[in-house]
Amino acid sequence: MPRDGNFPGDTVVVTGASSGIGRATAIAFGEAGANLVIADVDRDGGMETARRIQDETAGDATFVDVDVTDDADVEEMVETATSEYGGLDVAFNNAGIPGTFDAVDEISEEDWHAIIDVNLSGIWRSMRKEIPVMLEDGGGTIVNTASILGKVGEAETPAYTAAKHGVVGLTKVAALERATDDVRVNAVCPGYIETQMLDDAGVTTDAEMRAEVEALHPMERLGTAEEIADAVLWIASDDASFVTGETLAIDGGYLSR
Ligand code: NAI
Repeated sequence: MPRDGNFPGDTVVVTGASSGIGRATAIAFGEAGANLVIADVDRDGGMETARRIQDETAGDATFVDVDVTDDADVEEMVETATSEYGGLDVAFNNAGIPGTFDAVDEISEEDWHAIIDVNLSGIWRSMRKEIPVMLEDGGGTIVNTASILGKVGEAETPAYTAAKHGVVGLTKVAALERATDDVRVNAVCPGYIETQMLDDAGVTTDAEMRAEVEALHPMERLGTAEEIADAVLWIASDDASFVTGETLAIDGGYLSR
């Protein structure tokens, strides 16, 4: 359903916008009138997100090939916001990869570093470039994607859970540092959401696994990418003007058990 347009003419950067939560959120920002920088390693998916924003929403969109483990790519992402749309109002740092299922004493060093590099260091790399541009512009809003696994542990997800706990901590630190500079920094902590990530893990395709995962949520279902998008748009909007350093769970009650 088209939104009223809380972000008319604003510039919004979304990482991981070629799929899932990132795509749904980028489209929601487009519906709210924003101009999007679509940043992802997946060019085909990113071009499709950009096309949908251009064709179906009030906003505009530009795709940039961005690997959040590459500092130069992240720099180009932020420069594109400025050169194409004149600044940076909102950043949704959302790119992520799944963890491996290994115990703490079993995960390989290679897997450990790869997961931390995208899911935690990628958020730091993004904020490091975004904050100075926002400060020059007189303010902005950052939303990072953590997870319910940023708040609680799950056996055999060591790097993913450590990275997401790290995102929660990093979000609070950045929020404290910029609290008087009109830069609000928050995180969303989704429960299990029906996206490509869960398809790849077999959760959405294997009926038994799906039932097990649904049962972890008191609402007894998976969430949708659009439900996360709604929360991101709210926390990024002026309706949340006194909210910073918050880590907002959208999890069907998962963390309340
Ligand atoms: P997805 O797999 O549909 O989307 C992830 C996107 O990130 C993809 O477009 C992928 O190409 C991109 N990406 C991966 N590595 C990248 C890199 N190095 N640089 C730039 N882009 C990269 O997955 P989903 O579910 O939409 O995930 C989005 C975020 O939500 C992730 O941070 C994930 O950890 C988090 N999350 C997802 C949950 C779920 O159940 N689906 C639950 C909690 C958090």
